[in-house]
Amino acid sequence: MTEPDVTRTELADADATRRLGRALAGLLRAGDLVVLTGDLGAGKTTFTQGIGAGLGVRGQVASPTFIIARVHPSLTDGPALVHVDAYRLGSLDEVDALDLDASLDESVTVVEWGEGLVESLAEDRLEVSLRRPRGGAGTLGVGGSGPARAASGEDEDASAGTRVVELRGVGPRWAGVELPVVG
Ligand SMILES: Nc1ncnc2c1ncn2[C@@H]1O[C@H](COP(=O)(O)OP(=O)(O)OP(=O)(O)O)[C@@H](O)[C@H]1O
Ligand SMILES: [Mg+2]
Repeated sequence: MTEPDVTRTELADADATRRLGRALAGLLRAGDLVVLTGDLGAGKTTFTQGIGAGLGVRGQVASPTFIIARVHPSLTDGPALVHVDAYRLGSLDEVDALDLDASLDESVTVVEWGEGLVESLAEDRLEVSLRRPRGGAGTLGVGGSGPARAASGEDEDASAGTRVVELRGVGPRWAGVELPVVG
């Protein structure tokens, strides 16, 4: 039995989050499912914007709240991006039932807020977990300039945008796939 591939990356700001999404897009193909978990404002939509840019799809990737799912067709001949807000969904079957312009088989499907859904999802999926680091610089300050700088308070705002992301490939589709660690 092999361990799932997991990468863990620190993202300094929203642009870094978009760059990682863009790098991930290079691995994505039709039929893939990406499940994004994280609190409000963790950066799920921001990450999806990077995926959309990397796939080269039409339209502005924005929060899917209130629309459940939005289809972004490819500007080339690649897969469409189906961007789903799973908050009020019971299962992915409900997305297929929406009768979107693109089938999930032909698309890259990105689901925001998928935590409760994971059990009912396909066995192949890429799980992306975004969170704000807790506990201050101690967890992340390895190799930094030490307590003197932290004590000065100058890092307080600089760390406000930091997120930690974990990518975890589940199922045969992702076995042995090397996941990006930086954009
Ligand atoms: N490192 C970072 N990564 C992502 N977003 C960041 C980062 N630092 C700051 N931000 C800001 O945090 C906000 C993240 O919002 P975003 O809509 O992407 O989150 P979300 O997880 O989709 O939220 P929601 O739960 O409402 O769907 C944006 O305003 C973004 O600019
Ligand atoms: Mg969002």
